[in-house]
Amino acid sequence: MSDKRLAVFASGQGSNFKAILEKIKDNYIPATIGLCITDNPEAGAIDIASSNDIPVKVFTPKDFPDKDVLNDAILRDLLSAKIDYIILAGYLKMIGRRIVDQYSNKILNIHPALLPSFGGKGMYGHHVHEAVFERGVKFTGVTIHLVNNEYDAGPIVLQKPVSIENVSSPDDIAKCVLEVEHELYPEAVKLLVEESLEVMGLRVRMKKEGMTGND
Ligand code: GRF
Repeated sequence: MSDKRLAVFASGQGSNFKAILEKIKDNYIPATIGLCITDNPEAGAIDIASSNDIPVKVFTPKDFPDKDVLNDAILRDLLSAKIDYIILAGYLKMIGRRIVDQYSNKILNIHPALLPSFGGKGMYGHHVHEAVFERGVKFTGVTIHLVNNEYDAGPIVLQKPVSIENVSSPDDIAKCVLEVEHELYPEAVKLLVEESLEVMGLRVRMKKEGMTGND
């Protein structure tokens, strides 16, 4: 059976993209990255893709002011590249409904906190770590979830807490959380592409025994 084909969507430096790519190269994840999509022509993810011969498509808001036109263009590229799964790795735009419907339970997102806390519209990137810091919680963490049509509200695949009792800034939190993201995201991608996930409403169960997860 041929490897599953992934599209990685990234707006930023792409360190999660890199972590996943490394695990593909190590044969831990049986998949190929067939496309990198970004909304940011300066994204570090572009360099990572280019130096690994992964095709890149840049969809800037300037060139695609209309969301439906944008999403239809992205969907066309996904289908023509025969993409099976979508991995959102620090992608700052909401994925359009037609893409979510076409790739139902086949899109993963990473959120740098323990959902449902510190999630929802406007809660992305550094905003999350600032809110976590101000609220003074003792634990934050990483959530990897399937994407549905609401912000940060899809079925949760994996979560891992991160103790932040001794941090002194939102930047400190971001650093601790990112390290855990790089461990957890490849694990979730592997579970997805190996079809080890069973989704029942908002609950996700691991199909095989001995898998990492919460069941
Ligand atoms: C990560 O913290 C991710 O959870 C968030 O944005 C950051 C992206 O980091 N949504 P990178 O681009 O993968 O390095």
